Amino acid sequence: MVYQQSAKEEIKNAADIVELIGQFVQLKKAGRNYVGLCPFHAEKDPSFTVSPERQTFHCFGCKKGGDIFSFWMEYHSSTFPEALKDLAERYQVTISEGFSGHKERERSAQRDAVFKINEKAAFYFQEALSHSNVGKAARAYLGRRSLPKEVISQFQLGYAPDEWDGLIEFMRREKIDLDMVARAGLIVPKKNGGYYDRFRGRIIFPILDLRQQVVGFGGRVLDDSLPKYLNSPETPVFHKGEVLYGLHASHKAVRETGRAVLVEGYMDLLALKKNGFQEVVATLGTALTATHIRRLKGYAKEAVIVFDSDEAGKMAALKSLPIFSNEGLSAKAVVLPEGHDPDTFVNAYGLDRFSELIDRAALIFDFFLDQKLAKKDPDVEEKVRLLKEILPVLSGLSNNSHRSLYARRLSERIGIKEEVLLSELRSFEKDRSGRAFQTRMKGRLTDSKVEKRFDDLHLLNLLIHYPDAASRLVGCDWKILLSDSAVIEIVETFFRKYSQEGPFLPQDLLESLKSDVAREQFREALVDDAHYSEQEVDLAVAEIEEKAQEKKITASIKMAKGDVEALNQLLELKRNKDRKVLNG
Ligand code: UTP
Ligand code: MN
Repeated sequence: MVYQQSAKEEIKNAADIVELIGQFVQLKKAGRNYVGLCPFHAEKDPSFTVSPERQTFHCFGCKKGGDIFSFWMEYHSSTFPEALKDLAERYQVTISEGFSGHKERERSAQRDAVFKINEKAAFYFQEALSHSNVGKAARAYLGRRSLPKEVISQFQLGYAPDEWDGLIEFMRREKIDLDMVARAGLIVPKKNGGYYDRFRGRIIFPILDLRQQVVGFGGRVLDDSLPKYLNSPETPVFHKGEVLYGLHASHKAVRETGRAVLVEGYMDLLALKKNGFQEVVATLGTALTATHIRRLKGYAKEAVIVFDSDEAGKMAALKSLPIFSNEGLSAKAVVLPEGHDPDTFVNAYGLDRFSELIDRAALIFDFFLDQKLAKKDPDVEEKVRLLKEILPVLSGLSNNSHRSLYARRLSERIGIKEEVLLSELRSFEKDRSGRAFQTRMKGRLTDSKVEKRFDDLHLLNLLIHYPDAASRLVGCDWKILLSDSAVIEIVETFFRKYSQEGPFLPQDLLESLKSDVAREQFREALVDDAHYSEQEVDLAVAEIEEKAQEKKITASIKMAKGDVEALNQLLELKRNKDRKVLNG
């Protein structure tokens, strides 16, 4: 425990939270802090705040926050031991074994084991691809798809030989527990015991995370058999709806250009890479999720989605609109000529034609309308049909200015008055079992929760910015001024720690706080500016003492009603005090 604590401290000292988080979230300076769009919840205005001074972060929207370790665990969905290991490596700090609770250690060990097995498997598949006999057909296939050696090796492509136990035998030789290989999704249990290889006779595409670790695999057949692609199942490290294939190799380019091009397939991404188009990631055929977009918006200012030219592609474009809008990432769309996907298009027409298309991409909403209204003047019935498709989408937009913008566009394009559209939208929303209403009300109610008492916040602010001065309040009856139990916990903990250790960094109080509300409240206060200047501090402390005393007397007067003697004494005390205040 002691060793771990010091490693943690050492890492914290070596790390700069703004630099670290800045690699995953686009941060802008705002006063003493940095702000950005929160990677942990949907938002369009930045409430995610990082304080270089405190080395903490806090999101005013979803209330997540903490230090670099909290960030790492939350962002990479990893355990504390993993975060410790990753960050120790990153900042070159040596750590000793033996830490964390049993459960967490278990989970870490499992994830670790799966990563190791994946890495070994990736090696096995790569070896098979370069093997003179075994990999011959696969190499020929990749040649036909015109993938050069450099791309194949950069993306660690491999080949799973057409055998039922090739990988099993390899893992046996490596003395790996087959149960774990099954947990990694690479082999499948047979009904009557034993296992067989999941990937057989397929080109293998390892899927890497931002830490360059293999989280899972995709495999493509060499012919027309089905299924065309097979992917790793859900494992402790692989969640299909979350991965963006190629992000590990593209995030720098995405950051530099400000744009991320989204394609569907492994081969689409690789073909673009081969042709020199770098800012691209692939969703692996799944519908776009908020998680995808939260990942991306850490790097991109806008996304350009390449959709299929069919009807399903157009609908997918429209459906993705609210997700983008609610996440605050601007999104455009292009459609390729019929029969093409990015792979065939860029190989047929080259990089320039592809880039041109991407540069000319239209905002998704306009794209959708263009596609829908391309052919003819819509008649009334068609307009009604179009509205039926669009209203649910508009109603899914939580961003009001986007809603009215789109409503205006729509009214221009199909010649329906904006007021009519908006009232249609309202009645549409009323019909839907009041769900939208509920979420709206919930938002309103949480926004309007009672403001924290003035004194609570001032005292908190004082002890963060002027701990020494605040420590003088230990003897006075400060508690009588406070109404918030979280703040009371914080102040109590502060005084206790201060009396035990003397001065400490305010952020170090976080770990001593027991309740979540207290930690949340404290993180929020940590990123706040000082309410008092150096010159005002003494006065502020005196004021608090004064107020506490005053309040105590008033309270005692109430209590003493009936006991005339005591009451008279107290009233005298109060008169003296009031006089003092008036004169001084
Ligand atoms: P596509 O069917 O568009 O294939 O699937 P593609 O990428 O053009 O493949 P090639 O060019 O024929 O090799 C797009 C993506 O959807 C996922 C894969 O990730 C694929 O790259 N997919 C597709 C599956 O997971 N399973 C399938 O059976 C098919
Ligand atoms: Mn294709």
